[in-house]
Parts: sequence; structure tokens; C-alpha cells
Amino acid sequence: MLSTPGRIGVIAALPEELQSLLDAMPDAEPLQRAGRTFWVGHLQGRDIVAVLSRIGKVAAATTTTVLLTEMACQQIIFTGVAGGLGADVRVGDVVVADALLQHDMDASPLFPRYELPGLGVSRLHPPADLTARVVGAVREALSPHALSVNGPLRDVHLATLGLSQPRVHQGLIASGDQFVSAAADCDTLRHHLPGVLAVEMEGAAVAQVCHDFGVPYVVLRTISDRADESAHIDFPRFVQAVACRYALAMVEALLQADRGS
Ligand code: ADE
Repeated sequence: MLSTPGRIGVIAALPEELQSLLDAMPDAEPLQRAGRTFWVGHLQGRDIVAVLSRIGKVAAATTTTVLLTEMACQQIIFTGVAGGLGADVRVGDVVVADALLQHDMDASPLFPRYELPGLGVSRLHPPADLTARVVGAVREALSPHALSVNGPLRDVHLATLGLSQPRVHQGLIASGDQFVSAAADCDTLRHHLPGVLAVEMEGAAVAQVCHDFGVPYVVLRTISDRADESAHIDFPRFVQAVACRYALAMVEALLQADRGS
């Protein structure tokens, strides 16, 4: 994936996702920093630090800062769930961010709405070549073949959860300190941010910290809901059966693609 050999920080949004990573990292040792547990070990022979993000932008920024400054991570992978906003972004699909924005950043009239004061931009972009490779690796990891026969995904029965074959989208993810659960709020986000694919609570903060430190990053989100009043499937069941399997499969696919590059 990332073509530089150094240590990789993997940030999981959900405890179930972190656990599925740790199950595949039997040598992982805990290290306490900033009230968090950082798991230092190996996945597919790569030097990995895995950690729970904690919810919200500040918490995610703190977690990322520790990974970069105290754990010497040279790349960051963020994996979690998100609400789908794009018309064709369904529950069970995956969104890979090629741009991230804080939808609750508004220092107007001092700065244009959404602009990050001091940075002069509202959107941050992970490296384009990296994003393209990640999309390819994730598409492969979630292909019908991989879902039916391979490792962590072999017993994922999407149909029993009312899901179809996942699609992998690439585009804008909006982050803010708000769990969006009303169709009217979704409409507002789509109106102000045409083309936005998903909403969550951490990605743009991780992006900003990585941007400041000049470290490459990728944000992957499995769609768990449509950010509206209708719950299509049972969230805990979705996380156990789908999201945490996808997280491990996607991270392993990225590491494998990296090795092949
Ligand atoms: N993460 C998962 N679903 C979300 C939603 N609807 N809003 C914000 N963050 C989310």
C-alpha cells in the first residue's frame, strides 16, 4: 500500500474492530499513553501499532498525535463505520476518503465556512496514488471470491443481514462532533457539500494531524447506517458480522498490496 517500510499506526473506531485486529496480532504488547492502550506488535510481518480511536475529533486527534510523536508511526490507517450520504452508498458498502472536511468547522465571517484557519483550505486529501491503491486492494478484499472463500470473510453471510455485495466508493467524507440521525440533517449536509459520500466523527481530524506532520494516511469507512431515522439492520450484529471482519480484511489487503508494490 504505502511503499515506505516504517511502522504503521492502525486506528480502529470500534472496540470490535480493534479486537479483530488484535486476534491477528498474537505478539501485541500494550503500552499506556494519554489514557489509551496502544498495542505494539506485528501483522503480516509488518511493525504495527493498533489503537482505539475514541469518539469525536479531539479524541481522534490526540490518538493520532501520540501515534506520530511517541510511537514513531510513519503511516496511518483509520478504519471505522460511517453514515451513508451519497445516493448510491448503501449499508455494507465501503467508502475510501479521497477528501475529508470538518462539517462543523465554521469560523465565518473571519474565514469562509469549513475553512481550516491557518491552513487556507477546507478539504484535506490523502496522497492520490495511495488512495487509488487502497481502493484497488479493498475492492479485491471484498470481491465475491474473497467473501466466499478467504480467511476472515469466509462466513460472512451478507444476505442474512439484508445486505448485498459491497461496493467500494471513493470520495468526500465529512466529519463532525455529531452523530447524524435525521434525514433533514443529511439533506443539509448534501446541500452544502455536493457529492459528499459519508458522515462520521473522526476522519477529518486524523487527516489534519497527519497533514501537519506530513505523514501519509488513509481513511476507510464501512457504511453502518444511512444517517437517518431508519435503522435498516441491527447495529451490534452488523458490527460483529460485517464491520470488524471488513476492518481486518481491508488492513491485511493493504499490507499485502504494499508488499507487492
Ligand atoms: N458513524 C456511523 N454512523 C454515523 C452517523 N450516522 N453519524 C456520525 N457518525 C457515524
